[in-house]
Amino acid sequence: MNFKAILLAICLLLTRAYAQAPATDETWWKHAVLYEIYPRSYQDSNGDGIGDLNGITARLDYLKSLGVDAIWISPMYPSPQVDFGYDISNYEAVDPQYGSLKDFDRLVAEGKKRNVRVVLDMVLNHTSDKHQWFIDAASSSTNPHHDWYVWSDGKPGSGPEAHEGRVPPNNWVSLFGGSAWEWVPAVHQFYYHKFYKQQPDLNWRNPAVEEAMFNTMRFWLDRDVAGFRLDAIPTLFEDKQLRDERSLGGTNAQGDPNLDDSLTSNLPEVHDVIRRMRAMVSSYPGDRVLIGETYLPNTAELDKWYGGAKKDELNLPMDMLLGFSNKLDAGAFRKLIDEADTQLHGSQPLFVFDNHDNIRSIDRYGDGVHNQQILKQLAVILLTTRSTALMYQGEELGMVTATPTRVEDVKDPIGITGWPKEKGRDGERTPMQWDASNLQAGFSTNPHTWLPVPANYTTINVMAEAKDPGSQLNWYKQLIRMRRELPALRNGGLAMLDTANPSVLSYVRTPSDGSPAVVVSLNMSGTPQTLSFDLRSTGIKDKTAKTLLTDAPELSNVHSLHSITLPPFASWVGSVQYAAP
Ligand code: NOJ
Repeated sequence: MNFKAILLAICLLLTRAYAQAPATDETWWKHAVLYEIYPRSYQDSNGDGIGDLNGITARLDYLKSLGVDAIWISPMYPSPQVDFGYDISNYEAVDPQYGSLKDFDRLVAEGKKRNVRVVLDMVLNHTSDKHQWFIDAASSSTNPHHDWYVWSDGKPGSGPEAHEGRVPPNNWVSLFGGSAWEWVPAVHQFYYHKFYKQQPDLNWRNPAVEEAMFNTMRFWLDRDVAGFRLDAIPTLFEDKQLRDERSLGGTNAQGDPNLDDSLTSNLPEVHDVIRRMRAMVSSYPGDRVLIGETYLPNTAELDKWYGGAKKDELNLPMDMLLGFSNKLDAGAFRKLIDEADTQLHGSQPLFVFDNHDNIRSIDRYGDGVHNQQILKQLAVILLTTRSTALMYQGEELGMVTATPTRVEDVKDPIGITGWPKEKGRDGERTPMQWDASNLQAGFSTNPHTWLPVPANYTTINVMAEAKDPGSQLNWYKQLIRMRRELPALRNGGLAMLDTANPSVLSYVRTPSDGSPAVVVSLNMSGTPQTLSFDLRSTGIKDKTAKTLLTDAPELSNVHSLHSITLPPFASWVGSVQYAAP
């Protein structure tokens, strides 16, 4: 073998070893703080009133200073923007309103300099109806792309839904309102859409669809993205026989019957696709991550998305059970945190409290009086349990939901069709509040931002909060720093404390290297609570305690775990020096 061949063989071996190395405890995403960016609303760099990629690049130093390890950017691909980017018409480009591929490459490169990775949103369930694949598919039933979507001839019938004497094949409804079936005269068939009618569902039973979508993922993996957040991933498959879904009684905000969605969501077939996807993504070096948008009914279902004991599916399916339980309840939180810790075959949990689809957590969990303290408690849970943490822009500031008050101001189509019961998602998508330098909170120079900037930007903004030691921003920053620096929070085990207490959630993180343990205690009630912890049951003989972080001034000098009184809704995080018993 000549020298060149030996070198090549060594390189190949190294690449293989790197590519196939199993995720270890040091795998970056296990300790990461992930941060969702809704690009329309983060930073406008060209004065058109809409955020863009160069705007995000300009804010990388902020993200770095906050302690973010990776940003997930909601879709920035070319799109008619019916669903603000979740209707993609070209998977391998950037929408001109957000910039160009060159801007994207610069964002990735600048992120790399600061150790901020870029994760992309991948929408696999559906495309835009303006995607060339669908245009082809809807033009003729003999077009090779026709079978890339889900079609039905319907069944004989009459009435307002009838076309050429045929009605939709079943009772399925779109999650965004109305029948899930849309008639196309050119092919004399209905197509299926789980979301808007402009978002036709792809037919994942056709292997050509998988191949095409995996290729688009490769396109971005080759451009060095750190992984993907998989949109609506449980909805890839539908019942092959197109049977009616069971009615649950009553109607939803869009006026449609409530249906049990078990024939259009979370079908077992999806797991084969995910296993193949994981194998494909793992063949790239650098621990690329697969995150799932997985709204599921319980922890056992969530475990399946990791691949159960085999752990060969998603790295981080989102645990939506805790962050969207929508009730501040110490007992319920304890149970869900404990389940994620003990019932996922040791896989890494991913907690999330906020995203661009839901009323902000400060409003869902807040009682209207103690909202600031309550948000601080949620941040403590997100950042001091064993979970990877996923945040949403503005959460770190305590930005609130600014729901439109008039239907004529609504931009999100579900808010228009569902008004006034369903006011849409504009409220959680308002522009990021950077400073009080102009009426657009530093988001844009254009007075006509795509959504209005809430009036509270004068006090709730990055610049003002950076100067206030008691602000939400500084609370998040301190927690993220502690999570990074303290071995107990980085790698320690977790044990619940005081488990019968209905009002206070307490737990301890125990490192194995002899460094201090960390105790967390959150009073989720409106009355003071006195606690006394004995850590012996967790194998720890505590000696002295020290406050690391609290929002109750009277707890700033705690020295012992015996008899701590937490004021209403207070948080206390302390370190405990200990000796093994
Ligand atoms: C979930 C996304 O988060 C949401 O914004 C979108 O409307 C639907 N999936 C459809 O893609």
